[in-house]
Amino acid sequence: MSIGFRVKRGDPARTATPLLVVALPAEPSLPTALRALDTKFGGALGRALRRKDFQGGKDETLLLFAPGTGGPERLLLVGTGTGDRVKGLTRAATLAGRRAQGLGVGACTFWAADLADASLEGAVVGLSLGSWQFKELHAPVPAAKRKKPLASVTLFVDDVAGAKRALTAGIAVAEGQRIARRLAMLPGNLCTPDYLVRTAKEIGKRHRLTVKAYGRAEMKRMKMGAFLAVAQGTRQDPKLIVLEYQGGKKGAAPVALVGKGLCFDTGGVSIKPAPGMELMKFDMSGAAGVLGAMEAIARMQLKVNVVGLIGATTNVVDGDAVRPGDVVRASNGKTIEIQNTDAEGRLVLADVLHFAKRFRPQATVDAATLTGAVVIALGHVAMGVMGNDQGVVDEVLAASKRGGETGWQLPLFDEFKEQLRSDCADLRNIGGRDGGSITAGCFLAEFAEGMPWVHLDVAGTAYSETDLVVMPKGPTGLPVRTFVEFVRGRAR
Ligand code: BES
Ligand code: MN
Ligand code: ZN
Repeated sequence: MSIGFRVKRGDPARTATPLLVVALPAEPSLPTALRALDTKFGGALGRALRRKDFQGGKDETLLLFAPGTGGPERLLLVGTGTGDRVKGLTRAATLAGRRAQGLGVGACTFWAADLADASLEGAVVGLSLGSWQFKELHAPVPAAKRKKPLASVTLFVDDVAGAKRALTAGIAVAEGQRIARRLAMLPGNLCTPDYLVRTAKEIGKRHRLTVKAYGRAEMKRMKMGAFLAVAQGTRQDPKLIVLEYQGGKKGAAPVALVGKGLCFDTGGVSIKPAPGMELMKFDMSGAAGVLGAMEAIARMQLKVNVVGLIGATTNVVDGDAVRPGDVVRASNGKTIEIQNTDAEGRLVLADVLHFAKRFRPQATVDAATLTGAVVIALGHVAMGVMGNDQGVVDEVLAASKRGGETGWQLPLFDEFKEQLRSDCADLRNIGGRDGGSITAGCFLAEFAEGMPWVHLDVAGTAYSETDLVVMPKGPTGLPVRTFVEFVRGRAR
């Protein structure tokens, strides 16, 4: 369920709410604006700070109950820690959202000093991120045990009219992330290429985007031999999905956002080991990121043209599936020896990236859960960032930083290209274990030639296999914010 967010002015002490969240920095003293609130709580707030029960550290929380009635029933203190304020506040809001959802209070209000612009947007995004839950496939909880889902959040600001932009932006990003996380959580039997098409069409209908989807027959006509090789084993019709948003001048070069949409990846004939294979339902996280970003961009009405491109299919084991050693020809004419059918994402993206050139994009950014190697290189902390244009790489790195989604550049040195040499084709689709994320990036670069392009390897960051304190195990919403921030940076 999406949360209804609103902003208001006023004294938090006098607001009737089941939960008031107060975000405070490290080593806080009682803000003047909260003196009345402290009185309402019988001085408990001031005492908690003086006695250092609450020190405002990162991920620190303290829940207090009001002694009387009227005003807030509960007070949740959350620490924003030291360091970057927007980042700290966003994280604190995320934790608050999770706690509010867990308490089952249904509604809450949020106070932090000088909430405006980036900090307000961060608070909204955080509250939404932290309260997200996936319940749609569970049996409904019996009425007596049911907790109220967090349905409305009010944030205190000084300037209500001035808060509108940041509020709209925060809600837009929050909605985009919700779409992306839900899709990544949905299993492969439910989230199919057709389902991604339906979702794209829903987004398109909501915001008047042009949405087209090409199937196997059209892809054959476009000679997309690499993409089709991956889709060869499945009866599901593979889909190349195109979403066009026109926020800029008619005919102005768009930003292209490209997503790997493997609705499930068994590895194909080069089959993956059974333990953990179920995670491969998230192999469409890049595509989910594109859809989420398109939703957010359209809601924000950014003044730039954007085209979203998704390569959707399923990599399965089948008598007709592509086999190791098969040679196929991609739409740009290059031949590829498929030495490992599990390196399928780059095959799909090869044709989608080449297709992107039709739009003459000012810049293309793709996101893909491309390699296990990126988890070895950067763990679950940062996504791998690679590209053929350092200016655009820097722009994407800055966007990811603004969006709180850490990225780190890996080099596409020419030396790595040697690893992609094949005895019987222009390229092979694997480059061995060494520098695995980079050779995957080098492979993509062969198909992005001639356009400024950046690749995000989100295999380690789009989905968390552990509880992250601020959010449960599961999809993180990445790379929606990086996409959105990049496009925002290009909007005029
Ligand atoms: N979808 C996987 C990448 C992946 C692996 C994501 C682990 C998240 C966790 C991709 O299609 C894949 O299988 N890549 C292979 C490439 C190899 C065969 C060169 C990999 O990383 O093992
Ligand atoms: Mn694979
Ligand atoms: Zn894959």
